[in-house]
Amino acid sequence: WSIQPDEVFATSPVIPVMVIEQLDQAVPLARALVAGGIRILEVTLRTECALEAIKLIREEVPEALVGAGTVLNPLQLQSVVDAGAQFAISPGVTSALLEAGAEGSIPLIPGVASVSDAMKAMDYGYHFLKFFPAEASGGVKAIKSMGSPLSKLTFCPTGGIGLANCKDYLALSNVACVGGSWIAPSDAVRDGDWQRISDLSSQALAHVNG
Ligand code: 3PG
Repeated sequence: WSIQPDEVFATSPVIPVMVIEQLDQAVPLARALVAGGIRILEVTLRTECALEAIKLIREEVPEALVGAGTVLNPLQLQSVVDAGAQFAISPGVTSALLEAGAEGSIPLIPGVASVSDAMKAMDYGYHFLKFFPAEASGGVKAIKSMGSPLSKLTFCPTGGIGLANCKDYLALSNVACVGGSWIAPSDAVRDGDWQRISDLSSQALAHVNG
């Protein structure tokens, strides 16, 4: 691995979750986030052009650390590796994906929503996990409670997180960073409002560091 999971989590306190509908949005969106101070990017595999977008951002925005999100199975994991993704994030844990990720060439951050999910991920050697969907699965209280029995785990909560609650999560000792789409809202991406996205990035960083 050229980067370790703990380095992925240490890159930025906020990881933007990106949904790219059109390939020509990929590079300006990535540049807008980087301009706002966020150099880690999660491109979700929810759109037709997601793999092409990862490839293009890797070529055109070399200062960014580019990961793939919504990776659901081993086949998708291989396809994001082939596209040049530097890490992968999944919303859940299947045995097939955990097994493939443990042997894969980039770090995989599996998603958990319960103690049992987390224990399953630990069985395969994972200690850096997404907690998803964070707000709907008990939020800050749930992650805090998991800290005692599962003290070796570090989480990136995602799902329902925004400016109003991100600091509550980041205050937990077992949370390294949070993920969210609020920094790259779909209307701003659609309208090409890159300045707004840069502003949302710098606002998020100023807020969590302040
Ligand atoms: C994800 O894929 O991690 C979530 O869709 C992001 O959740 P949010 O849109 O509530 O930030």
